[in-house]
Amino acid sequence: MSTVRLLLLGLMATFSVAVKCRDNYKYNVYLLFDSSYNTSRTDWNRMKAFTSKLISTVDVGPNKGHIGLGQFSQDLEPIFDLSVYISKTTILQEITGLRQLAPQRATGQALATVRQLGYLTNSLHGSQADAATVLVLFLGGPSDNQTLAIREATHLRKEGVQIFVVTYPVNLPEAAAIAGSAARVILLTPLGIIDNLLLTLLNLLCT
Ligand SMILES: *[C@@H]1O[C@H](CO)[C@@H](O)[C@H](O)[C@H]1NC(C)=O
Ligand SMILES: *[C@@H]1O[C@H](CO)[C@@H](O)[C@H](O)[C@H]1NC(C)=O
Repeated sequence: MSTVRLLLLGLMATFSVAVKCRDNYKYNVYLLFDSSYNTSRTDWNRMKAFTSKLISTVDVGPNKGHIGLGQFSQDLEPIFDLSVYISKTTILQEITGLRQLAPQRATGQALATVRQLGYLTNSLHGSQADAATVLVLFLGGPSDNQTLAIREATHLRKEGVQIFVVTYPVNLPEAAAIAGSAARVILLTPLGIIDNLLLTLLNLLCT
């Protein structure tokens, strides 16, 4: 396909996604960041760039998107709840301010805490009823205990949480098991194609 054609398709996709999400789409999205030191600085910055672009594209507000943010290494560190009152500017500042924490990548424990404390499902944490409830997990590499990570992800999915994993090709098997399907894994490769990945994710979120 020619570049122009790809570009046109991209623009059309952006438009239809935006319209669909804007008009009648209500969602709870929790962004969970792997802040392990074991992720290279380049990969880490790529994950942050992707998240910032994602936030710039979605609508945040009452009866629209409620966005929450947390990060983990050894433990989960919640940054903000699925609150409707947090502005996009604040969200972007918080993402920019994220720092890598420690060597561990305790994904399973972080997922267990998200579920047990109801960060995605409890209205006290800003969860909207009758809304699609989505966890977007950014994984820089393999979890310390993949068995535990997959088991905890399965529990979350059973509670109605849809899981998408944004990661690197080497980590595809674990990511697919966490997401429940390879179709819900977004592979981060060179920066140039972040826009396409974003469209993929938005299409999945908004249909
Ligand atoms: C970090 O990654 C290296 C290999 O790149 C590995 O040897 C080491 O065990 C990892 N450390 C932790 C805490 O995961
Ligand atoms: C991984 O987690 C499972 C389930 O909690 C546990 O049984 C197992 O001992 C853990 N493995 C390691 C290497 O810690």
